[in-house]
Amino acid sequence: MSPFVLTRTLPEDATGAALRADVREGLTAVPKTLPPKWFYDARGSALFDEITRLPEYYPTRAEREILLDRSAGIAAASGARTLVELGSGSSDKTRHLLAALAGPLSYVPVDVSESALTGAARTLLAERPELEIHALVADFTAGIELPVTPGPRLVAFLGGTIGNLLPDERARFLASVRALLAPGDTFLLGTDLVKDPAVLVRAYDDAAGVTADFNKNVLRVLARELDADADPDDFDHVALWDPDREWIEMRLRARSALTVKFPELGIAVPFDAGEEVRTEVSAKFRREGVRDELAAAGLRLTHWWTDRAGRFALSLSAPD
Ligand code: SAH
Ligand code: AVI
Repeated sequence: MSPFVLTRTLPEDATGAALRADVREGLTAVPKTLPPKWFYDARGSALFDEITRLPEYYPTRAEREILLDRSAGIAAASGARTLVELGSGSSDKTRHLLAALAGPLSYVPVDVSESALTGAARTLLAERPELEIHALVADFTAGIELPVTPGPRLVAFLGGTIGNLLPDERARFLASVRALLAPGDTFLLGTDLVKDPAVLVRAYDDAAGVTADFNKNVLRVLARELDADADPDDFDHVALWDPDREWIEMRLRARSALTVKFPELGIAVPFDAGEEVRTEVSAKFRREGVRDELAAAGLRLTHWWTDRAGRFALSLSAPD
């Protein structure tokens, strides 16, 4: 195998077709919603990277601290010869894990963002030219087929991205992860933890407005991909804590009564002044909840590590 292979598992125009279906369904529903995966075109991926460096956005730093402290333990517990990473993005924190895993090593990053995958591979190969990278452009909620690489496999899902799935999507997703695992394989999961709501809201409504720009990026994606007349200046960024569901919700709120037209779809979506569309949930977790959701999918929690301030957790689990 050459050191870098990129496979697009999404059929031609899968992105366009899926976006059209999500817009039809989500923007004609009450209340209006859009799935968060549409943030991540090249600009959205770059904005997310900027978010990870904001003073208010602690999850990336907290998870990096755990990885720096615990990667040797994770490597020993998993014995992995292949690291599969779902929603790998820039793979920046993953470098600590890759450094701890003994070679020869295969790395299978999976992401909907092709620009993030190629950028990450370039950086990783410059540091570690012997790494076998088999990148997959794929939707991790749609069931993925992994390339044949040496076992055991460690499947990682970092960053707290699992919190961006709704509870029923999470259950389906965890069952699909379980189905990927053979005996001896393991699953490493990053989860942001429940904490002071003020700290949480600040992390999703930063002073510099980068998260607002990230949130509004979905409007630019709609304008470019579907020729919609969606204008970021017509909407305000909203981030709020839902104490019952224990999740942050990001929304876009119409500044005035307006209509967004989708000529390709033949629909026009009316907004009242102040009406909102939910663009993301970011659920926060407790240890027992993570343990129970893993168990429901046939995964047994074997290790639980947090950063020193107890803000974020990494868990390792194995098939029952
Ligand atoms: N794991 C990285 C990046 C997190 S950002 C970190 O911890 O910093 C979330 C990443 O998941 C983005 O790169 C985005 O493109 C990807 N993503 C979001 N939804 C996805 C989906 N349904 N399928 C595949 N990748 C997805
Ligand atoms: C990728 N995901 C874990 C981020 C989060 O914190 O939920 C996405 C994000 N949304 C706003 N800021 C960051």
